Amino acid sequence: MAARTSTFLLPLLHRARPLLLGRKWHHRSPWFSSQSCSRGLSGISPALSPQLAGRSYKELYELSVKEPETFWGSVARERLAWSTAFQQVSDCDLATGRVSWFLGGKLNVSVNCLDVHAAKDPDRVALIWEKDEPGTEERVTYRELLEMTCRLANTLKSLGVQKGDRVAIYMPVSPIAVATMLACARIGAVHTVVFAGFSSEALAGRIQDAQCKVVVTCNQGVRGGRLINLKSTVDTAVKSCPTVQHVLVAQRTDHSVPMGKLDMSLEEAMSRESAECAPEPMDSEDMLFMLYTSGSTGKPKGIVHTQAGYLLYASLTHQYVFDYSPGDVFGCVADIGWITGHSYVVYGPLCNGATTVLFESTPVYPDPGRYWEMVERLRINQFYGAPTAIRLLLKYEESWVKKYDRSSLKTLGSVGEPINHEAWEWFYNVVGDKRCPLVDTWWQTETGGVCIAPRPAEKGAEILPAMAMRPFFGIQPALMGEKGQTLSGNDISGALCISKPWPGMAKTIFGDHQRFVDAYFKPYPGHYFTGDGAHRSEEGYYQITGRMDDVINISGHRLGTAEVEDALDEHPDVPETAVVGISHDVKGEVAFAFVVLKENTAENQEHVIKELRHLVATKIAKYAVPDHFLVVKRLPKTRSGKIMRRILRKIAMQQTESLGDVSTLDDPSVVTEIIQAHKQYRSRLDKE
Ligand code: WTA
Repeated sequence: MAARTSTFLLPLLHRARPLLLGRKWHHRSPWFSSQSCSRGLSGISPALSPQLAGRSYKELYELSVKEPETFWGSVARERLAWSTAFQQVSDCDLATGRVSWFLGGKLNVSVNCLDVHAAKDPDRVALIWEKDEPGTEERVTYRELLEMTCRLANTLKSLGVQKGDRVAIYMPVSPIAVATMLACARIGAVHTVVFAGFSSEALAGRIQDAQCKVVVTCNQGVRGGRLINLKSTVDTAVKSCPTVQHVLVAQRTDHSVPMGKLDMSLEEAMSRESAECAPEPMDSEDMLFMLYTSGSTGKPKGIVHTQAGYLLYASLTHQYVFDYSPGDVFGCVADIGWITGHSYVVYGPLCNGATTVLFESTPVYPDPGRYWEMVERLRINQFYGAPTAIRLLLKYEESWVKKYDRSSLKTLGSVGEPINHEAWEWFYNVVGDKRCPLVDTWWQTETGGVCIAPRPAEKGAEILPAMAMRPFFGIQPALMGEKGQTLSGNDISGALCISKPWPGMAKTIFGDHQRFVDAYFKPYPGHYFTGDGAHRSEEGYYQITGRMDDVINISGHRLGTAEVEDALDEHPDVPETAVVGISHDVKGEVAFAFVVLKENTAENQEHVIKELRHLVATKIAKYAVPDHFLVVKRLPKTRSGKIMRRILRKIAMQQTESLGDVSTLDDPSVVTEIIQAHKQYRSRLDKE
């Protein structure tokens, strides 16, 4: 593939120089070595490591859970470049939430993602940036990305960023954003990428919690042909963030933005810096990044991932879940603001020396053929996306898919929320021509990488529609009953836990380790609790049934209903609210808000609701704004004052015949009252 230099990079590039790493790195390339081992023949191919060659999925899986030290030790030695070898594979205790992998080892993630590939094949394309403007793409080679990363790393250093300091990244998917993540990794700084759709308040909250020293952003973002003023959002946010010393601004569009005291042009700063930067040797368990995600209570939590275990798990899952082979073009269309973007746009693919696609646009811009036109033009081999986009696209004529050549596709993947049968079938039949395995991958921000998916598996093993099916190496799922007991046998449902540690698992919640222990390890002692429910089929396959807590999933975006309630409750005329998730045919779920107003505001309902919408958009993000608001006189509460959201959800879903037990309510008549109000609301909606 011919590499065309990104125009975004032009001012930064100069003649290639030899790579100076400054230290000796023991390098064993991930797939150069394994490729030569056991392609074809029996066993999983290519082999995970020479020591594990020739074994089937079943044998490898058994080994991975029975002898995790042998399994993970061998894979980690083989696949990663270490500057100091590790002495101990793991030291974990799920009873107390202690998670430690590859103790004593030192490595640098950016070396593993860049230098080892640039040294062998500098002109291989690392990134293909599919820009918002249709039909435009820019390619960045491993050499160019390494150079850009080093300049950026030196820029951060020159601003005083040191190992362990936090850097916020508020940018859409772009090469410069990826380079910023890798630049942090190079110098041992910790990045926290904030999805560029979050409001200034949400951004400020994350910056404050992480105590970031620097924010990196763009003048504007471009999405679906619309311009988004990212810099001005950052300006507002940093006003309440005293820890921020510098704001670096990359130029995505021609628009010039006012530059204040803290601001600096990123391109200008980088052009002054050297294109070489010695990588910082990092302990396996030093922080690599933190990513905020929603829980069932309180503010979003900063999930912390560390260096070696995370990288190893992202790279291994990237290769084996998606059947990635050297030379493939890997197309994960997620935003880097979410964990999927971290693990399968950036770290997994780059660690494997892949060509990874950065998708900046939307599935329907300029038309519903966008994904498939891109697949044809970029010759994408693996396409990994979210069910919400599939549900949107299947509403259009099949010709939007069929007119493009999709013969390059080998594997299709789905992530982020349950995929319904209709979406699965359309994706498999229409997009994949019944030819490409479709993997429904279940995982979480906290798990670092895919934990349950139909692949890897025995050669030719069946894939059942809309099911995640099989645990990945090292993952031992367990279903728990209401009394906290482990449920054995098949054809059974329960709370999904994982009962053995794995290298991709999060280390802690930034600044609140107790919350980490309480949320994940207390509910079922000795197990990691996922928050999801699951069913184990007669054949022993897993199917995820959805969240068991007050977390909802809107278009694949995870959101705590408590966050929305907190935002709504700030309105002076709103003493109380309750938010629940209800199903939606495209977005998966949407928020439904039950709102109690102060008595004297009853006249003014429409106006207050308008203000409430605005409040949620400014406090969180537009996607979090409830689709429905219903004003009620009071909420259903237990005698101890707890709101019974379960009942509200049933009412909002129009499932009033199965309300369940309402006898624990303080005053059960409230239910009839709310059902009545909801009926009136629905009939108003129907008329509109
Ligand atoms: C949900 C996204 C069903 C689940 C990688 C989980 C899924 C939450 C699937 C994590 C799937 C993710 N089937 N549900 N294949 N994948 N989920 O942290 O509820 O943004 O707990 O990570 O998404 O969302 P998160």
